[in-house]
Amino acid sequence: MFSNSLLAEVRDRFHHVDNCPYQGKRAFFENAGGSLTLKSVVEVNTHFAAIPDNQGRDNLASHELVRVIDKAREDMKLFMGVRDGLVFVGESGTELLFRLVRAAVLGAPPGGEVLGSTLEHPATVSAAKRWCEIGNKKYVSIPHNDDTASITPEDYKKYVTADTRVATIIQTSPVTGMGVDVKAVVEAIRAVSPDCYIIVDGIQHAAHGALDLAEYNIDAFVVSAYKVFSKHNYGVAWVAPRLSVLPHDKLDGTADSFWELGTRDTSAFATFSEVVNYLDWLGSQFTNSSDRRTRLIEAGKAMCDHEAGLVGAMCDGVDGQKGLRDMPKVFVIGGYDNPWREGLVSLVVEGVPSAEVVTALNQGGVRTHVRKNDYFSGNVLTPLELETCIRVSMCHYNSTEEVKTFLALMESIAA
Ligand SMILES: Cc1ncc(COP(=O)(O)O)c(C=O)c1O
Repeated sequence: MFSNSLLAEVRDRFHHVDNCPYQGKRAFFENAGGSLTLKSVVEVNTHFAAIPDNQGRDNLASHELVRVIDKAREDMKLFMGVRDGLVFVGESGTELLFRLVRAAVLGAPPGGEVLGSTLEHPATVSAAKRWCEIGNKKYVSIPHNDDTASITPEDYKKYVTADTRVATIIQTSPVTGMGVDVKAVVEAIRAVSPDCYIIVDGIQHAAHGALDLAEYNIDAFVVSAYKVFSKHNYGVAWVAPRLSVLPHDKLDGTADSFWELGTRDTSAFATFSEVVNYLDWLGSQFTNSSDRRTRLIEAGKAMCDHEAGLVGAMCDGVDGQKGLRDMPKVFVIGGYDNPWREGLVSLVVEGVPSAEVVTALNQGGVRTHVRKNDYFSGNVLTPLELETCIRVSMCHYNSTEEVKTFLALMESIAA
């Protein structure tokens, strides 16, 4: 885990780490609803929000906006670990996934199937179902494993056929917190359907470990800025050359691979560069490498390691405070010793409604969130016969002291 001094430096780089402007002191375990925001993101955002100029003019301000956007595109690709293809920005992760799924479903050869899973967020599932109907393709949903709360290459192998035209994969579930071995799932799909268009939802994973798109062998990938230390109101998509030129909404006269619709918000690009700068700094605490990509990978490893420590403390206790494992009324979705867990623990307390648990935690100064059996979480909760659960989502800036506070409250709630 991070040393105390490094953790203090990390925490100092974010807004509202331990204090909510509306509620006062609190620990923030609601990162899957949106991460904390970097102070540098807010500064840069304020700067660019005030600039009246547009891109593509022959004046110094306009040149600077174009330079910032071009630099950010390089940063985005470095962050994702990819050299080819292109990155573009859209309204949200959901909007980007809808556009990519639509282009893939309508642009793929006629007939066949679109393959997804019950672990996915409705952003990919709803898009795939809608465009399958319009594009005359069959939507096939692979059930995820309820015990591990994840999905494996073997699960995909059972359903993929030579007619699988498009497949969607969620990299990490925002409900269970479990990651998916994207590379191995892609290999399983491509072994049977080599030309399948594969779209990955990386939105929950992006704040919990390095990305390596060049290794995944996919066609499109999406992250949401507000879930990875930046601000609301934009997401970033990467699209591979072959998917980039499938027919899609664009202005006449622009290149076949042009995806952006309308004037760019320079602050979206500039703030994403700040995310990459931050991860670069974090990585530099763990390596002397002069290579920026190496530093980003090291940052990813360090975040994973710190979060694994937080999860360990939550399960097994810390400083004499008993952990969830020793609270008999607590049930943790996906089990305690699940190697795929990424900083997130979803649980229920026998005999106590989840909403009451969340309220009690809030009153004790710990922010969590109740997930309900609705269109966001029903896919996970229904098979477990649960109506609700409590999502406790951590990030690398959280501390074991915060975990301890949470556990002490849980002990009395679950007594
Ligand atoms: C895995 C996943 N996919 C998609 C989304 C939707 O992202 P956005 O809110 O940017 O539309 C979320 C949001 O929580 C998510 O966790």
